[in-house]
Formats: sequence, structure tokens, C-alpha cells
Amino acid sequence: KRPAGAPDKALAQKVTKVGVIGAGLMANQFALLFVRRLQVPVVITDLDQTRVDKGIASIRGEIDALLQKKRISPDEANRLNDLISGTTNKSDFADCDWVIEAVFEELGVKQDVFADVEQYISDTAILATNTSSLSVEQIGEKLAHPERLVGFHFFNPVAVMPLIEVVRTPQTTPEALATAMATAAKLRKNAVITRDTPGFVVNRVLAKLLGEAMYAVDHGTPFEVVDKAVAPLGLPMPPSELLDLVGLKVGAHVLDTHHNAFPDRFYRSENLHKLAEYGTLLEKDSKGKVKGFDKGALKIV
Ligand code: 3HC
Repeated sequence: KRPAGAPDKALAQKVTKVGVIGAGLMANQFALLFVRRLQVPVVITDLDQTRVDKGIASIRGEIDALLQKKRISPDEANRLNDLISGTTNKSDFADCDWVIEAVFEELGVKQDVFADVEQYISDTAILATNTSSLSVEQIGEKLAHPERLVGFHFFNPVAVMPLIEVVRTPQTTPEALATAMATAAKLRKNAVITRDTPGFVVNRVLAKLLGEAMYAVDHGTPFEVVDKAVAPLGLPMPPSELLDLVGLKVGAHVLDTHHNAFPDRFYRSENLHKLAEYGTLLEKDSKGKVKGFDKGALKIV
């Protein structure tokens, strides 16, 4: 049975090469997933060679970690390493049939990135954005063919979170939507089709939770108390850890986007912006295990 609103599977286009724009936290994680699950070449670009090299090194490090854990064989590790490449030359995107971006979460930046890459790609390539809360339709406003754009929203950590939100704009073609659904299935993720509305579904709910946690903190409840108080809800991690995982800058930005769209329903935390400048809420050991609250960060509250 087709999921609600899903187009005919037969309309899905073949994905034989993937282009990834951005070599940051999310892009590196999903680039690895694409190469593992689709077994096709994946080419990654960013603003300069240093950023590209850093992204590629992080992906190769993850491939090595999978090998060490014996999740993949040495042959598989070699194959994945061969299929991944970095470039600063957009002509390398010419034969990509699926191009996805995870650049800075700023409307103008994403619009320009797509308008630029469209000059290099084929007419039939599908474009996807990993935006977490911007309007996909607005992101496509500078495209000659906005109907080929679809939202494809991953969650952090990409390797383990089971969901992708596939966002349909009023223009998105059934072919683009079908390709997105088929690609999500190949990545072994559950996909839901959402409306192009601020925060889609997941972040709308998450922004409420994290916004209320920040409201409590900003009005005098220590973060430790908020974490302890919500523990009975059975969240996989307390609000402080979730904010650190998402990234305080991204978290503050997501809250702002929701607040701007629905000022009377979502809280904007100035304090979270200050904390984001500081960096992190929690101290962690070298393995990423939480040691406790970062005392410097708590002083800012
Ligand atoms: N990156 C990559 N893999 C990770 C990871 C990370 N940061 N954290 C954990 N993992 C992997 C582990 O390596 C392990 O994999 P393995 O079984 O292959 O070794 C697996 O996840 C389970 O890890 P743990 O044994 O440490 O298990 P936990 O029970 O502690 O689960 C968790 C960790 C899955 C991260 C869990 O705490 C969780 O689900 N947290 C909530 C995460 C969440 O809500 N994410 C959404 C954020 S919102 C978002 O991304 C949207 C954006 O737009 C803002």
C-alpha cells in the first residue's frame, strides 16, 4: 500500500551518481549513508578545498570505524573509499542525477547554492534540500526548474535515526517525489511526506520541547533540574544533550525560525544564542560520554 500522498513508484528515476553540497556535520553523515546503501559514486563539494578535505577525512574516518567494528569487510571499505570523492569543481556534478545540499541554514545562501549548481547539472537531475525548517518552495525560488526540488530532511545521528521527512512543495513533480521516496527506501529509512510548512512535523514538535526547556532555564530553573524533571517522559536523551547533539547554533536558529513563523506559539531564547557563542553545554570525555555540565556555559545562563 502506498503511504499517504505518495506517487506511483514507477515514476522514480534511477540514481547512479549523487552530488552533495556542503561538507559539514549532516552532509558528511548522509554522504556516507548514500555511498553505503546506494553503492554509487558520491561527490562532495564545499566553499573551498580545506572544507572539502576536512569532510572527506571525516567520512574516511567513519568508514575506518565501521571496518574496525567489523561492520564492513576490508573489500567493502576499499569500495566505499573509492566511491567517495571531493571536489571544488562543479562540473563534476554534470552526471549526478540526485544532488542534495546541507549548507548553512540561511534562505539566501541555499537559494544561491541551488541557482549556481543548476548551471552545471543535467535537465533531469533531482535536487534535494536537507533544510530543517526553511520553506522548500522559497529555497527553490531562484531555480529555473523549481519543480525538480524536494525536501529530504535527515535527523542526527543520520546512521541511527530511522526517519526522513520528504517535503513536497506545490510545484514538486510526482517524479521528484517518487525518486525521493525510492531513495529513502534504499537508504533503509522510513519516509513520511510532509507539507512545506515551518519545521515540517518533527522540528515543530521538537522546537516546542526544546523551547519550553530553554524558557524554564531562562526563567531561573537550572538546566540539571529541567533534565531531571523531564526524565520520566522517557526521551532517548535529556534536553541538554539533545541541544548539544543538534548543535547550539542550529538549535537557536531552529527556535528562531519557529518563533518568526508563529511568534505567539514558539519561544525565542536569547540566552541560547549566547550559549551557542560559548560552544557547548556539556563536558564530554574523549569517547563523547557526558561528564557533566560545562561550568563556563552554565555561568552564561
Ligand atoms: N553519531 C553517529 N552514531 C552515533 C552517535 C552519533 N552522534 N551516537 C550514537 N551513535 C550510534 C552508536 O555508535 C551506536 O551504533 P552501533 O550500534 O552501530 O555501535 C548506536 O548509535 C546506538 O548508540 P548507543 O549505544 O550509545 O545508544 P543510545 O541508546 O545511547 O542511543 C542515540 C544514542 C541513538 C543518539 C539516542 O540517544 C537518541 O535517539 N537520541 C535522540 C536523537 C534525536 O532526537 N535526534 C534528532 C535531533 S533533531 C534533528 O536532527 C533535526 C535537525 O533538523 C535539527
